[in-house]
Amino acid sequence: MKQNEAVFSEMSGQLFYRKIGSRYIRDKIIMEKNYIDVQKGNENMLYSNLSINESGHLCMQNQDTVELAGKYGTPLYLMDENVIRNNLRMFRSIMKHSFGNQAEVFYASKALCFKQMYRILSEENICADAVSASEIYTALHAGFDPEKILFHGSAKTRDEIQYAIRNHIGYFAVDNAEELKRISQCAVHDNITQKILIRVTPGIDPHTFEAVKTGKVDSKFGAAIETGQALQIVEEALRMPGIKVSGIHSHIGSQIFETEPYLKEADVLAEFLARVKSECGWECSILDIGGGFPVRYTEDDPSADIPKMLQETAEHMKQSFAEKNLKMPSVWIEPGRSAVAAAGITLYSVQSIKRIPGYRNYAAVDGGMTDNPRYALYRSLYTVLQADCAETEGNEPFTIAGRCCESGDKIAENIMLKDPKPDDILAVLCTGAYNYSMASNYNRVCRAPIVLIHNGIDHLCVRRETVEDIIACDL
Ligand code: LLP
Repeated sequence: MKQNEAVFSEMSGQLFYRKIGSRYIRDKIIMEKNYIDVQKGNENMLYSNLSINESGHLCMQNQDTVELAGKYGTPLYLMDENVIRNNLRMFRSIMKHSFGNQAEVFYASKALCFKQMYRILSEENICADAVSASEIYTALHAGFDPEKILFHGSAKTRDEIQYAIRNHIGYFAVDNAEELKRISQCAVHDNITQKILIRVTPGIDPHTFEAVKTGKVDSKFGAAIETGQALQIVEEALRMPGIKVSGIHSHIGSQIFETEPYLKEADVLAEFLARVKSECGWECSILDIGGGFPVRYTEDDPSADIPKMLQETAEHMKQSFAEKNLKMPSVWIEPGRSAVAAAGITLYSVQSIKRIPGYRNYAAVDGGMTDNPRYALYRSLYTVLQADCAETEGNEPFTIAGRCCESGDKIAENIMLKDPKPDDILAVLCTGAYNYSMASNYNRVCRAPIVLIHNGIDHLCVRRETVEDIIACDL
């Protein structure tokens, strides 16, 4: 990585700088995107919110990350609440702008879920998608409006269904016929009418990594349009007591950098809904097209313009629906990763350095797959910086190894570092999504805390787990 080289992209209202940014590039982006309130930062920007101070330390919102690591301990998830809020505002404004006032944003809780997150969602007028009774429980304990919750999942238990119904959640995204029956039974028993969306699989391959493709016919999620099962479940649902079919849901995958899969999704859904209208006489009033908007983890990831993707999808969808004489439904989206990933960094302390001559070098840190399983699971790449000398160019490749008893416990490989030593602080960027939410207690490691920085002030929002927490369920 060369000094003064600006590698950038503009996404979710943020500027992405890997090294000292050029004013030309930054100003150009700001001028072109007038609907986004881009923060102007100083010259030493990495991302719009990251900078390097005079001690050479990495800063988030001008707060020294090395000092924060000292204050809260490591590993530590540090998240920029302003970035999260800006992203949510961007999604909301672009949705209303492109699809009209009925459009809604349902943040996908699975990406990052804790009580403060739901308070932020409430304040930003964002709805939530939840996948378990525990996510719903967290939301309700944060005072989140149950009517704004959409309950997802392909294997909801009877207890969860009952819990959600009794707590008056707004909508279920129904995955299969079995679940439909259970919801109907619970709703009839409680003498209510439950609103639902029906999850369909449109048969689209969005060219992303295997673990996050969900729109293909062969999927554990939803009812396939191609096999006729989707039509069948809609017909059944329309006859079921205690159920009001409000709309259709489809999510084709994650990390989708191109607009085309969303355009195809719009076409397939329009075609399907035209068929439903002619065969069942039912017209869809809500169409949820899922999440999947991309994030740039490293400079090698392509850049994507999410607002443009949504605008183009909206135009295409309106045309597709008009051609089939269908009323345009309210359109919902469910961004997860793109709302929170770039807001987060993880700070680790180096514990040991090992050089195996002729093989490789290891920098072992005090976290790893327990706080970020994504490299072990998907070989997901990350940008890693030395937080205590963030401007220094590395000159030796290192594997960043985790602390667990598992050879695959790595955070990244081939990371260029400059003479790393025990107790140095490493910062892994873009860890806001699917890190904390996928954290585990393997080796009975305590989960790391989350500190949010809002308007320059740090707030502990999730405390570090303790050994007492770890044995709390043991009898
Ligand atoms: N809606 C539904 C129905 C989903 O299944 C998902 C993600 C989303 C929305 C949000 O997608 P996003 O905007 O975050 O791409 N653990 C994997 C990601 C699994 C995503 C599962 N579903 C990872 O770490 O990459």
